[in-house]
Parts: sequence; C-alpha cells; structure tokens
Amino acid sequence: MPLNTVKQLLKEASKKIEYLDAELLLAHVLGKSREFLATNPEQTIDMMRVIKYKYLLKKRTSGMPLAYLTKHKEFYGFDFLVNKHTLIPRPDTEIMVEAVVNRLRATNDGQQIILIDVGTGSGCIPIAIAKWTSDFRLRVSIFATDISKQALKVTKRNAKKHNVPITFKHGNLLEPVLSSVVCNQLPFIITANLPYITEQQYQNSPTPEIHHEPKSALVADNNGLALYEELFKQIKQIVKCHILHITCYCEIDPSQSAQIAKLIGNILPETKLEIKKDLSGKDRVVIVSWGE
Ligand SMILES: C[S@@+](CC[C@H](N)C(=O)[O-])C[C@H]1O[C@@H](n2cnc3c(N)ncnc32)[C@H](O)[C@@H]1O
Repeated sequence: MPLNTVKQLLKEASKKIEYLDAELLLAHVLGKSREFLATNPEQTIDMMRVIKYKYLLKKRTSGMPLAYLTKHKEFYGFDFLVNKHTLIPRPDTEIMVEAVVNRLRATNDGQQIILIDVGTGSGCIPIAIAKWTSDFRLRVSIFATDISKQALKVTKRNAKKHNVPITFKHGNLLEPVLSSVVCNQLPFIITANLPYITEQQYQNSPTPEIHHEPKSALVADNNGLALYEELFKQIKQIVKCHILHITCYCEIDPSQSAQIAKLIGNILPETKLEIKKDLSGKDRVVIVSWGE
C-alpha cells in the first residue's frame, strides 16, 4: 500500500498535531477543501507536495500558528490573509464587530458615517463590518490606520480581496486621519483592538504560540492601557474643538474594565460608557460615546 495517500499522511501527522490541523495543512498544500480529503482518502500525493506538507508539519509541531502556515484565518464569516506582520484575528474581536454592525443596522437609511479602525492589522474589523452592512443603504467612509507599514500591506490586500474601499494611513492611532475627518462634522465610529496585554501576561501566556505574533501588536505599557490612554487623549483634542457624535469601541482584557473606566472618567469625564461581555460572560468591549 502506498504511504503517501491522504489517509496515511493524515494518520501519521495526527500523532504529532491535532487531526483538524493536519487536515487543514494538507488541504492547503493540495489547494483543496477538507471535504476533498474526506472523500478521497486513497488519493496518492506526489513527492513534492509530501515534502512541502512535512515541512509545514514540522513548523506546526514546533508551535508556529496554523494561520501563519496556511496564510489564512476565518473571521466573522470571511477569509482573511495573514502573515507574520499581522495579528491573527481572534474570535473575541467578533463581539466588537457584532456591536458595530447592530449599531449601523439601526441607523437611518442614507445616513453618512465615518468609520475609523485604529491598529487595523489584517483589516478584519472594518472589512467584516462593511461586508455585514453592505445590504443596508448606509454611506460609510472607512479609514484604517496602523503603526506597521508591513501590516498595512496585508490590510490592503484584504480590502481588495473583499472589494471594500478603505483609506489606509500609516501612523500613530488617529493622528494620520484627523485632518481629513474632523472638518466635515459627520458622526464617526472608532474601532480599536489595540495592543493591551502586559509584558508579564505576554511572557507567561498559556498559549506560547503568541510568541510567533508581532509583540508590537500585543503588548502595551501601563498595565496594557498606554495606547488606549493615548487614544482617549487624541479624542479629547477633537471633542474640545469640534461638536461631533463619536462612538469609540475598544477591545480589552476582562481584568482591565475598572481601570479603563477610571481612565476614561479622568480624561473624558462627560461621556457615556457601556461594557459588552463576551460569550463567557467576561467584560470584552468598552463603548464610549460623546454627543449622543
Ligand atoms: C491587537 S492588534 C489588532 C489587529 C486587528 N485590528 C485585529 O483585531 O486583528 C493591534 C494592532 O495595532 C497596531 N498598533 C500598535 N501600536 C499602534 C499605534 N501607536 N498606532 C497605530 N497602530 C498601532 C499593531 O501594529 C497591530 O496591527
């Protein structure tokens, strides 16, 4: 019996990694679906592909995240390209997307809105929001910023793949987009899944796979809240000079909700604050609004 059949390769691989991962890697190497593997267990695989599969298998065994090997990650029903310069989109972030989609769906027909995603990475947040609201007659102009030029290259490819028009800006949080958005007085929504874990959480993470992801996408100073603090200060500058309706959605670690509420109270005392929980009942998204 040939050793290089789908069935044999999966059986061998599943001694080292999860069976699902073995399937996804083999499907990736063959350019086929998992259904193809399930329905063609006796298919013989050529030597070049077997070598490639075994190379990826070795990387996966040493802890490389599956998404970096297949270069894809599913998020909120869509497929996103990822690479070592982007964070791998997390299911937790779907809570924020859902909240924004619901908010936009409740908005009047024809309403013009500006959506700014800061720290966009793969672009999964604004692209998923745009796709899930595309059947509504909203006029949403989307901006996305990131401090990493390499990550923005991936955002651009994802926006093109999903046919979502986005204005991309390289720079620190809101800074690169401020001049283009504040003068037109439209309501705007800010989404932010910024780095929020502490150095200690990073070092002691129960999922060592995160050490393959860019540290600059994960870790922040001041108990993980340094970038949110800077973002709120930038927003304060805007609300001081302009009368605007702004809603800002921030993903947090559940342990940070009291601290971030205090921070917002100090920097932006006249705001409305709401906290959304994730599926396990933990605080996950802070929603801050002005002028509503
Ligand atoms: C936690 S990742 C989130 C990526 C993506 N939004 C997601 O949810 O998968 C944080 C992102 O913020 C970016 N970032 C870090 N510091 C930044 C800053 N000062 N200004 C803009 N982006 C920043 C990182 O490069 C990274 O892409």
